[in-house]
Amino acid sequence: MSQQIFPKWANTLPIIVLIVLVITLGLVVHLFWYWLSPKHLNVGYQPKQPIPFSHALHVENVGLDCRYCHSNVEKAAHSNIPATETCMNCHKQIKTDSPHIKKLTKHYENNEPIEWVKVHMLPDYVYFNHAAHTTAGVSCVQCHGQVNKMDVVYQAKPLSMGWCLECHREPEKFIWPKEKITDLNWRPTNQINLGLQLKETYNVNPGEACSVCHR
Ligand code: HEC
Ligand code: HEC
Ligand code: HEC
Ligand code: HEC
Ligand code: HEC
Repeated sequence: MSQQIFPKWANTLPIIVLIVLVITLGLVVHLFWYWLSPKHLNVGYQPKQPIPFSHALHVENVGLDCRYCHSNVEKAAHSNIPATETCMNCHKQIKTDSPHIKKLTKHYENNEPIEWVKVHMLPDYVYFNHAAHTTAGVSCVQCHGQVNKMDVVYQAKPLSMGWCLECHREPEKFIWPKEKITDLNWRPTNQINLGLQLKETYNVNPGEACSVCHR
């Protein structure tokens, strides 16, 4: 009897509905999981550099502060990679017999900048500013990991939107005294208490509005 009331194709309708539903659900899960998840970008990206400059050696052994070389990090949107001249403050005398230092010296004498390969990179449509973070007590370690232990720099954090927002929502979980931001081995005893206190002292209130990062 029912065959006369419903046309034959109606039998396959529930299956089509089911398939469409599964695909839609899959897409939604994908969107939330992949897009908004803080974990999908180039973590671990570690390009080879033209000269094997070691942060571990220069920071931990030689004892240089990050700002000796990255001197703009508290003043400008972009941090800077030091000019060869900064290296030559020491390497005019130190290790001059090393082939790497010979290469460095040649660049210096010919006035040819070294082509360091960029490690961290945001898409053009994202606005970022170093000074806004370093002057609000956000340590390099929160965004770059323990560079002081790296022989070759790699990307330690995802730099995704979800990841940025994790901190913008609850900065008290991350901020440190300003004078500690380049001491990457320092850790607070009670982050939340300290963070809440500093949030007030520094008057920190990072925005979550789209226009903060997309201008
Ligand atoms: C003696 C100079 C010097 C000191 C001190 C120094 N750096 Fe660097 N830094 C460099 C040079 C040169 C590069 C580019 C080559 C490379 O990536 O290794 C660089 C690259 C970086 C990069 C990767 C930039 C990119 O391409 O995305 C980060 C992050 C960084 N440094 C953080 C730090 C931090 C944090 C400290 C302090 C703990 C520090 N640096 C101390 C010279 C220095
Ligand atoms: C404050 C002094 C100082 C500055 C500035 C400095 N270095 Fe060095 N660098 C050293 C010392 C000390 C050593 C270790 C020398 C040794 O092993 O006896 C070293 C070692 C090196 C080595 C390893 C050489 C080898 O073959 O063993 C490289 C490569 C190097 N530095 C590159 C750089 C570059 C590139 C810069 C600039 C971005 C730089 N250094 C800035 C002090 C400095
Ligand atoms: C809140 C996160 C954050 C903090 C804190 C931070 N950085 Fe960065 N850093 C980034 C991002 C994101 C990039 C890539 C920027 C881009 O592509 O426009 C970057 C890039 C860099 C670069 C490459 C040059 C540039 O500006 O693109 C250097 C060098 C650097 N950082 C050094 C440091 C040092 C040193 C500190 C601590 C004094 C520090 N950063 C603190 C997120 C951070
Ligand atoms: C670990 C914490 C932390 C992370 C991670 C972080 N931020 Fe921030 N951000 C802050 C704090 C704190 C401020 C300062 C807010 C204030 O001064 O009120 C800030 C401020 C800013 C501002 C405002 C700057 C201005 O000039 O007004 C921008 C833009 C920004 N962040 C972009 C980003 C982007 C993009 C990322 C991810 C790539 C990011 N932030 C990751 C903590 C963080
Ligand atoms: C704290 C900084 C920050 C804020 C606030 C922010 N974004 Fe983003 N957004 C980012 C970063 C960083 C990326 C790049 C991440 C990536 O490459 O996946 C991004 C990427 C995006 C993308 C591209 C995603 C993709 O995978 O291609 C869209 C769309 C976007 N944001 C929309 C928004 C909207 C809408 C808002 C407001 C509700 C917002 N963003 C607020 C930092 C931010």
